[in-house]
Amino acid sequence: MSEQRPIVVSGMRPTGRLHLGHLHGALANWVRLQEENTCFFFSADWHALTTNYHDTAIIKPAEREMFVDFIAAGVDPEKATIFVQSEVKEHAELYLLLGMITPLGWLERSPSYKEMRENITDRDLALYGFLGYPVLMTADIILYKATRVPVGVDQVPHLELSREIARRFNHHYGPVFPEPQPLLTAAPKILGTDGRKMSKSYGNTIDLGESAESTTKKIMGMVTDPARKRRQDPGNPDVCGIFYLHKVTSDAETISWVDVNCRSAGIGCVDCKKKLLEKLLPEQERMRERREALLARPGEVDALVQLGTSKARAVAARSMDEVRAAMKLKLA
Ligand code: TRP
Ligand code: SF4
Repeated sequence: MSEQRPIVVSGMRPTGRLHLGHLHGALANWVRLQEENTCFFFSADWHALTTNYHDTAIIKPAEREMFVDFIAAGVDPEKATIFVQSEVKEHAELYLLLGMITPLGWLERSPSYKEMRENITDRDLALYGFLGYPVLMTADIILYKATRVPVGVDQVPHLELSREIARRFNHHYGPVFPEPQPLLTAAPKILGTDGRKMSKSYGNTIDLGESAESTTKKIMGMVTDPARKRRQDPGNPDVCGIFYLHKVTSDAETISWVDVNCRSAGIGCVDCKKKLLEKLLPEQERMRERREALLARPGEVDALVQLGTSKARAVAARSMDEVRAAMKLKLA
C-alpha cells in the first residue's frame, strides 16, 4: 500500500538550533508532505563535514537539537522516517560507485560550487569532498528511489546534477533509479532581525521556541521598512521582515490590516510588532514546551532516531543489492 505513495527525501545539515526560517522554509512543508508521501528526513552529518571539517565536535550535539526541533515542529516519526546519514553506510557505498561515472566537469561547473568557492574564503575548500558534495547528495536521494525532493531554490542545480547522474547510471547499468524532481513549494521569505535573509551565519535569527522575553526583544528591535523613518511616513510592507512574519503567523484579517494601515501610516511599526507578538508568542511558547518535554527525555528521541535509522537501512540495503546486481558486482 504505502509503497505506491510518492517517495520524498530531504536532509538538513546539523548546525544547531533551528530558527523561524527553517520552520517556514522547510519544516512546515515536511509536516504537510508526511501525510501523503513516504518520507525520509535525515541529518546530513557527512554533508556538514564538507564545510565544517575543522570543527566536528559540534555536529552530534547539533544533531540532537535538530531532531528535537523536527519533532517539536510536527514531524511525526510514526509517519516519516527520521535518520542519521552516517549511520546508513550504504550512502557511502553508493557515493563511491556514483563517483566512478560522474564527470569532473559537471561538478566544477555547478553554480553553487563556484559561488561557495568564491564566497567562503576563511577556509580551504579546494577539497575532493567539497567538490563531490552533489554526488553524495545524489546518493542520499536515489538510494531511497525518491521522486520528489523538497529543497530551496539554492539546491535546484544540485538536483539537476542528481538527475543527470541517475540517468547516466541507468544508461550504463540498466534502469534502477527514478530521476528525482525538486519540489519547490512557494517558500515564504523570512528575514532576520537585521533585514537580511534569516541565517545562523548572520547572527540574525529567532530560534524555534525562544523565550517570550527574548522573542519580544528581537521583534521590537527588528529592522522594518528602512524608508519609513517616522511614525507619520507611509511604509511599504513588501520590503518589511515584520510583514513577512505576519504572513506566516497572523490571520488573514490581521495581514490585510497591516497591509492597508502600513501604507497609509494608519499604524506605526510598534503597533504592528505588538500585533505580531499576539500570535507569535503563544506559538513560540508551544514550541518551547514541546522542545523542553523532548529534551527532558533525550533517550526517547534517540530511540526514535535509531528506529528510523534501522528502517532506512533496510530500504538502503535493498537498493544496494539491486545496484550491485545491475553493475555485475555480485558474486553469482
Ligand atoms: N544539501 C542540502 C543542504 O545543504 C542538504 C542535503 C544533503 C539534502 N543531502 C540531501 C537535501 C538530499 C535534500 C536531499 O541544505
Ligand atoms: Fe513593517 Fe509593520 Fe512597520 Fe509596515 S507597519 S513597516 S509592515 S513593521
